[in-house]
Amino acid sequence: MAFSPAFLDELNSRNPIEDVVGQYVALTRRGSNLFGLCPFHGEKTASFSVNPEKGICYCFGCHKGGGVVNFIMEIESLSYPDAVRFLAKRAGLEIPEDNQKDSQYKKKERLWALSKAAARFFHQQLKTPAAEEVRAYIAKRGLSGATVTHFGLGFAPNRWTALLDAMTAQGFTKEELLQTGLVLQNKDKGTLYDRFRNRLMFPIIDVRGNVIGFGGRVMDDSTPKYLNSPETIIFNKRRNLFAMNVVKKSKQGYIILTEGYMDAIALHQHGFDCAVASLGTSLTQEHADLLSKYTNEVFLTYDGDAAGQNATQRAIPMLEKTGLKVKVLRMQGAKDPDEFLNKYGADRFKLLLEGSENQAEYRLRSLAAQYDLFSDGQKVEFAKAAAELISTYSSAVERELYAGKAAQMAGVTLQAMQMEISRAYKRRSAAAKKAREKQDLEIAAARQPKARELRYENLRSAVAEENLLRMLFTEPALFSRCTDLKAECFSVPMFSKVYSIWLARWQDGFSPKASDPAELLSQAEMSHLTMLLQQNAGPVSEEAFDDYVRVILQEHSRGQVESVSDLRALQESLRKKKGYGGT
Ligand code: UTP
Ligand code: MN
Repeated sequence: MAFSPAFLDELNSRNPIEDVVGQYVALTRRGSNLFGLCPFHGEKTASFSVNPEKGICYCFGCHKGGGVVNFIMEIESLSYPDAVRFLAKRAGLEIPEDNQKDSQYKKKERLWALSKAAARFFHQQLKTPAAEEVRAYIAKRGLSGATVTHFGLGFAPNRWTALLDAMTAQGFTKEELLQTGLVLQNKDKGTLYDRFRNRLMFPIIDVRGNVIGFGGRVMDDSTPKYLNSPETIIFNKRRNLFAMNVVKKSKQGYIILTEGYMDAIALHQHGFDCAVASLGTSLTQEHADLLSKYTNEVFLTYDGDAAGQNATQRAIPMLEKTGLKVKVLRMQGAKDPDEFLNKYGADRFKLLLEGSENQAEYRLRSLAAQYDLFSDGQKVEFAKAAAELISTYSSAVERELYAGKAAQMAGVTLQAMQMEISRAYKRRSAAAKKAREKQDLEIAAARQPKARELRYENLRSAVAEENLLRMLFTEPALFSRCTDLKAECFSVPMFSKVYSIWLARWQDGFSPKASDPAELLSQAEMSHLTMLLQQNAGPVSEEAFDDYVRVILQEHSRGQVESVSDLRALQESLRKKKGYGGT
C-alpha cells in the first residue's frame, strides 16, 4: 500500500531516529553524531552512528544503514509497510486511508489556485478609483511601483462581498472560500462575507511559489493594525516566512530577519534582497530550520523595546542550534528597519550590518601594510593581491564595498579594480570546478559499491548523480532547478528510483527523507544510499548543482547516441544478411 507523503512526513518527525535507535542501542554523543555498538554485527568499538539532523543511521564497520524505517525493517525483521505500521503505533499515529493522499492534495491545489486568483484580484483592485486612499497610503510609506509589483501588493475593497463575488464568478465554491479563510460566515444568518475589507494586502507566498495566505494592513490607526489569514491546510505560520520565495534567490550570503512585512519590503526596496519577516508569530524552530537551508548567517533586527529584545533572546538559541551564525543588529534613532531606512538610507543600514566585527576590512588593511603604496610598481602589485583577496569574499556586497576601498588605496579606478577582481574570481571558480571534478572522480573510483549488482557503469554520470542526490537531500529547494532532469536520465538504476520518489515528495510539499525510498530499494541499495548521505556534502551551491545536472544529461544523451548508432549498425548487418540491401 502507498502511504501519503503527509503521513510519512509526520511519521518521520514523530519518530526521531535517535529515540528509535536509542531503544535498541546505547548511544553516546560525539559531535553532531551519536555512536553505539552496531546491532547488526558483533563489535567491541562503537562504529554505529546516528545523525539526528539527517535522519540516518550508518555503520562504519559493516556498512549497513538507512533511515528510521529501514532500521526497524532490519532490526524487527519487518516488511516496509509493517515497519511503517510499527512506527505509527509507536508514535500513536493513525494510519490514514489509502486514497486520502490524492484527495488531500487535490484540495490543496484548489486552495492554492483560489489564493492566487484572490491575490490577482486584490492587485487589480489597486488600479480602480476606489483605491485612491490606498494608493496615497502606499506613496506615504514610500513604496515604489516596482516594489508593489514585485511583492504583488493589493487592495481589499471596502465592501462586504467584493472578493466573494469575484471568486464565485470564477467557479470557486463556498467551501473553498471558507477553507482559505478569505471568507467568513455569519453565525446567525449564515451569510458569507469577506474577511479582508479596506486593507492594503500582502500576499504570502511559500518557497515553491504558491500563494498560501495574506496579511492586510489598515490605512489609519484603527485595530487590529494587521489582519492575517488563519491557519489553513495550505497556510502554516510556523513553517513559512514572508518573502522567503524571493530571498531564496538572493546572492547576499546572509538573511535579515525582521518582525514586519513592511520592514522586509522596505529592505528589498533599498537593495537588501535578503530580508524576510515572520508572520505575526514569534520565531519557531521550523523557521530556524528553514533559514538554515538557505544561508549560514542571520541578522536579527527586532524592535529595541522589551518585547523585541525578549524575542531576540528566544530566537538566538533556536537559530544557533541549526548551525547558523547569528548577529544582532542594534539600531539607534529608529524603531524598526523600515523607519531606519526612510530616515537614514541604505548606506547607513549597510554600515550597521557591517558594524560589528569585520574581518574583511582587517584583512585588506593587513595586506596593504605589506606594500609601499607610495611606489607605483608596488601599487600595482598591491592591486593584484587585493583583487585576489577580495575575490574570495563570499558576499557580493562585500566584494563591491572593498573593491572601492582597495581602488582608493592603490590609486586605481574602481572599474580597473573591479575588472581585476572579476578576473581573479573567474580564475578561482574555474580552478575550483576542475579540482572538484577531479576529486569527485577519485572519490568515486575509490568507493565503487562493493556489491556487484550496484557497480557503476558510467562513473562520470554516477558521481554527478551521487552529488546531486546529496545536495537535494540537504537542500530540497534545488528541485526547482530540475525541470529538464527526468528520472530516466540517471545511469544508476537505484539513483533513478531515489530521485523520482524524492521529486514526488517534494512536489507534494515535503522534504526528502532518508526513509522515503525504503519501499523501493533493497537493503544493500539502502545502505549504499545512506553511506552517501552520511558524508558531508561540500557547500551547496547552485552552480555546482547545475553542473551535476549538465553532466547527467550529457552522459545520458551520449548513451542514447551510442545506442542509436548500435541500433543502426545492427539493422545494417541484418539487412545485409537477409540480402535486401540498398540497391
Ligand atoms: P508592528 O506593529 O511592529 O508593525 O508589527 P510594523 O511592521 O512596524 O508595521 P507598520 O510599519 O506600522 O506598518 C510587526 C508585525 O506583527 C504582526 C504583523 O506581521 C506585523 O508586520 N502584527 C502586528 C499582526 O499580525 N497584527 C497586528 O495587529 C500587529
Ligand atoms: Mn514599522
